[in-house]
Amino acid sequence: MLDKALTHAAENRETFLDQLVEFLRIPSVSTLPEHQPDVERAAQWLAANMAAAGIKNVQVLPTAGHPIVYGDWLDAGSNAPTVLVYGHYDVQPADPLDLWDTAPFEPTIRDGEIYARGASDDKGQAFLHVKAVESMLAANGSLPVNVKFLFEGEEEIGSKHLEPFVLSQKELLAADSVVISDSRILSADQPSIVYALRGLTYMELHVSGPGKDLHSGVYGGSIHNPAQALAEIIASLHDDNGSISIPGFYDKVRDLSEEERDALAQVPYPIEQWQKETGFDTPWGETEFTILERVSARPTCEVNGIWGGFQGEGGKTVIPARAGAKISMRLVADQDPDEIAELFTKHIERIAPTTVNVEVHTLSTGWGAITPIDAPEMHAAAKAYEATWGVPPVFTREGGSIPIVAVFQRELNAPVVLMGFGLDDNIHSPNEHFRLENYYRGIDTVIHYFHLLAQPAVA
Ligand code: BES
Ligand code: MN
Ligand code: MN
Repeated sequence: MLDKALTHAAENRETFLDQLVEFLRIPSVSTLPEHQPDVERAAQWLAANMAAAGIKNVQVLPTAGHPIVYGDWLDAGSNAPTVLVYGHYDVQPADPLDLWDTAPFEPTIRDGEIYARGASDDKGQAFLHVKAVESMLAANGSLPVNVKFLFEGEEEIGSKHLEPFVLSQKELLAADSVVISDSRILSADQPSIVYALRGLTYMELHVSGPGKDLHSGVYGGSIHNPAQALAEIIASLHDDNGSISIPGFYDKVRDLSEEERDALAQVPYPIEQWQKETGFDTPWGETEFTILERVSARPTCEVNGIWGGFQGEGGKTVIPARAGAKISMRLVADQDPDEIAELFTKHIERIAPTTVNVEVHTLSTGWGAITPIDAPEMHAAAKAYEATWGVPPVFTREGGSIPIVAVFQRELNAPVVLMGFGLDDNIHSPNEHFRLENYYRGIDTVIHYFHLLAQPAVA
């Protein structure tokens, strides 16, 4: 059964790649209103492909935002476990366009990589589950497990309409476990399983002062410049060690156990790899934590955007009437994202100079998540990677966020296995790519995983 499915996948690599290319051509950028028809088209395309793959009950479900694509295959019987596969078909904006070597929505293959926005995050990784199931159905006419698919079009904008959908559709989505491929492995030869993701509290700050932009010579020195006040506020968020100065921010942070620190210290993530990935020499941050801990197990506070005043070439002597910033905080267990939004707001209100007006808005929030590494599904996932890569995976934390993971854990009461296949793929950046070998190995790993889940001795 297993071999037949793997053979089918191997024999159909070309078709599976052609289909991924078609999927990647659709510019389903969820955050840009002008791409709404493209997001809809991507949902319809995916649904049609799933139905053609033999997945049943395929539906494109409208929401107040972008649609949800659902499908299932539930004929494995009530003794077989049920797996919920989640992924997202929306992508980040492609800009800055001039930094792409080839157009973001004209997928191009170079050096064994497919270049396109969404290639790795997350169309390639989501779609490979459809191809794995297609291979099993084509080869054997059945699956070893019951499978439900849930693909959304709003992950990159905070999964706003997916959470209420999950809350209202618990029966439809009921599953013994969830599997998600929307993360990366450590390196091409060393697979890894992510057992923790960070949460997110995303804030926006607006600082205003004079009723209009002012001549900085005529009025400078007599009025608090909003851009300067914003800089003072931002400077108050960290201390010299890179720790966050918002009172109460660390109160609920669950300390890393010595055991876990030892385990993370074994994960091979040399400084040279960090330097290559970032294109920078010198790390920064909490000196008492390793880089891997800083980017995955510690909470952070980052300025994601800042504006105010003259941005053009040359000079313009002006005191801007307004300045602003987008600031996000990555959270770890057991930080409550809404509570963090409140602590942030209170801190700003307390330290904000009274000589300007300051407004604080919450853009989005999401909980972090941890999956116990001793869950039976994690064992099965480890075996599936080993079967495909030839080496067992290491367990690691990841700094990124997938807000719906905590909702699945809480509402479906099911462990979430983060079975990523990405590498250092320039996600959210120009020249995003996905290694073709990982696309094909991903299909094989999922085929192995579903077979292993069906064997209670292993799973
Ligand atoms: N797939 C990423 C998250 C990710 C990246 C997980 C790398 C593990 C490794 C996801 O699509 C993403 O970008 N999430 C956003 C969430 C936000 C928009 C609410 C993030 O992390 O910034
Ligand atoms: Mn993603
Ligand atoms: Mn993303």
